Amino acid sequence: MSHLAVCPGSYDPVTNGHVDVVRRATTLFDEVIVAVLANPGKAGLFSLAERMDLLQASLAELPGVRVDGVEGGLLVDYARSVGASALVKGLRSGSDFGYELPMALMNRHLTGIETVFLPGDPAFEHVSSSLIKEVAAYGGDVRGLVPAPVLPRLLEKVGRPLSS
Ligand code: PNS
Repeated sequence: MSHLAVCPGSYDPVTNGHVDVVRRATTLFDEVIVAVLANPGKAGLFSLAERMDLLQASLAELPGVRVDGVEGGLLVDYARSVGASALVKGLRSGSDFGYELPMALMNRHLTGIETVFLPGDPAFEHVSSSLIKEVAAYGGDVRGLVPAPVLPRLLEKVGRPLSS
């Protein structure tokens, strides 16, 4: 029997920390869907279509990975509709665990689906989409923290386009 994992998130934009978690999920599951959802608590910089484009470009080398967008609705309904065996999330810190645990328990309460937590690589412990956007907007160097296709699009979005 083939096992499918869903890696859900807002991916606004995808970071190298996300790519690491998705890559490691591919070693545990036969197939991985990276599902881009709206987080009602976060205003987005990139549109859903842009986030999906950036994910596709950033994950192109990984076998068995698909990118999908979910426009509204519950994550668990989406996970059930694609026949997912589990949700996979990366954890950078104790505060991530505090944020993720209620969602994992709620998702299990709703449908029984389990969440598998992967410890984030310490190299990316300080890397979040929110910090990346803030640092880039104030002119900080985020090279090496986001996949190559993301950098020019991010700098353009925050009004600091790469000089040629
Ligand atoms: O990358 P994020 O922003 O931490 O991801 C959070 C996300 C998008 C996975 C979460 O907000 C979510 O699952 N949203 C979809 C709506 C939903 O199912 N909400 C109930 C969660 S228990």
